[in-house]
Amino acid sequence: MMEWQVIDEKIKRWMFEAREMILASFDTKLDINTKSNRNDLVTNMDKKIEKFYIDHIHESFPDAKIMGEESEKDALQDADGLFLVIDPIDGTMNFVKQQDNFASMIAVYQNHQPILGYILDIRNNKLYWGGKSIGVYCNFKRLKAPQDLTLRDGLLGAGLPMILNDEYHFQEIAREASGVRMYGSAGIEFINVLTGKTLGYVSRLHAWDYAAGKILAEELGLVVQAIDGTDIDVLSSKVVLVSTRSANEKINQIINA
Ligand code: IPD
Ligand code: CA
Ligand code: CA
Repeated sequence: MMEWQVIDEKIKRWMFEAREMILASFDTKLDINTKSNRNDLVTNMDKKIEKFYIDHIHESFPDAKIMGEESEKDALQDADGLFLVIDPIDGTMNFVKQQDNFASMIAVYQNHQPILGYILDIRNNKLYWGGKSIGVYCNFKRLKAPQDLTLRDGLLGAGLPMILNDEYHFQEIAREASGVRMYGSAGIEFINVLTGKTLGYVSRLHAWDYAAGKILAEELGLVVQAIDGTDIDVLSSKVVLVSTRSANEKINQIINA
C-alpha cells in the first residue's frame, strides 16, 4: 500500500495551484451554463479545475479511478486500488454571485476504504484536511473534536429544499435547534460542523459533495449518515446528515416519531 504522505503532498500542491487559477479567473469573463435546472450552474472554471486535477492524477497515478462531478464517473464499489472523488468548485452559485463561500474538494479511497479528505476554503485560503488515524487539520493546526452539543444548543446548517418541502419533518427539527443557517456550499457547511460553528448539516447531496467531508467529520467523532438510515458507503446521492452524536440522536427521534 502507498504511504499516504506521497499522495497527500501532491494533492495539497494541486489544490493550492487550483486556488491560484480560480482567484485569477475573477478578472476574466466566466462562461456560465446551466445543468439540471436554472440554479444548477457550471462554469468554464469548474471544467478547467476538474481537468487540471484529473490530468495530474492520471500522470502521477495512472491506475487510479476517478469520480468527478463534471466528467469521469467511475464507481467506488468497482474500484480496487486508488479511487479519488473530485468536486472542483463546490458552491458554484456562490462562486458566480459572491466570489466567496465556495470550496474545492478531493477525497481519497484505497481498496474501497476512505483514507484522506480535503476541503479548501478558497477565499480564506484554509485547507481542511486529514483522514483515518491521522487527525484533522486546518492548514498546519490540528482541530479538536467539536463539543457534543445537543440539538437545542446549537445552529443547524441545511439545504433549502429540506425546509421548503418539510423533508423528514425538517421544520420540527429546525424549531428544536438554536437556529438554521444556509451557506450554499456543502464544503463550507462541512467546515462549519468540523470547527463547531454549527452542530450539524442536512442536505440532499451527491457523492462529490460529501465524500471529503465525511472522512474528516468521522475522524473528529461526528456522525455521518443517510437520513433514511440507508447505506452511505457506496457514494451515491442521498439526504446526508452530519452532526454531533447527541444532535443525531434527537434528529432521528423526531424523524421516527
Ligand atoms: C452544490 C452546493 C450546494 C448544495 C448542492 C450542491 P455545486 O454543489 O454544495 O450547497 O446544496 O446540493 O450540488 O453544484 O455548487 O458543486
Ligand atoms: Ca458540490
Ligand atoms: Ca461542483
